[in-house]
Amino acid sequence: MRVVILGSGRGSNTEAILLAKQAGRLGRAEVVQIFSDHPDAGILELGPRFGVPATYLDPAPFKTKLDGEGELRYIDAIRESRADLIVLAGFMRVIKPRFLETFAGKIINLHPSLLPSFPGLDGIGQAWRRGVKVAGCTVHYVTQEVDGGPIIDQAVVRIEPGDTLESFTAKVHAAEHALLPAVIARLSEC
Ligand code: GAR
Repeated sequence: MRVVILGSGRGSNTEAILLAKQAGRLGRAEVVQIFSDHPDAGILELGPRFGVPATYLDPAPFKTKLDGEGELRYIDAIRESRADLIVLAGFMRVIKPRFLETFAGKIINLHPSLLPSFPGLDGIGQAWRRGVKVAGCTVHYVTQEVDGGPIIDQAVVRIEPGDTLESFTAKVHAAEHALLPAVIARLSEC
């Protein structure tokens, strides 16, 4: 299964996926390409480290969505990569219908909350400010409804007395780093 990862940030989840591959824990999945919409994103540094092509792809003209010319650039490049699965690992843009229809059923997203609670930006901060005692992360299929597609799997994190936003954030990230590679491995065996 050929996996293409899209990310905007530091890429810790992509690193977890690539480490899982090295450890033989990614099933039949193989990461064939990383794309980022930010030329200086940490995620791009993982390419040379793990021997995977990692490329900045211009998302212009929009700032918060993938649409218009930028969307077409992504569609063409992902088609060229012959992706079986597209993983949004911290890709901070709304995906629009043309992209969704082109890769129907092949796009999954990682979100740092137990959806349907706390969709949108800053899922961790939203959960923290709401004072929940059970939180976590979700991997789901991407549909037109932002963070609203069918849930594939979730991991739970408890907020204990003494936790701070920092320690809670670290717990959620650790849960993500285990969940996303496990989901990809499972999908690769289907
Ligand atoms: C992750 O926490 C992921 O859940 C979140 O961005 C972070 C990316 O971290 N995604 C969203 O909030 C999407 N709505 P990373 O770049 O270190 O993998």
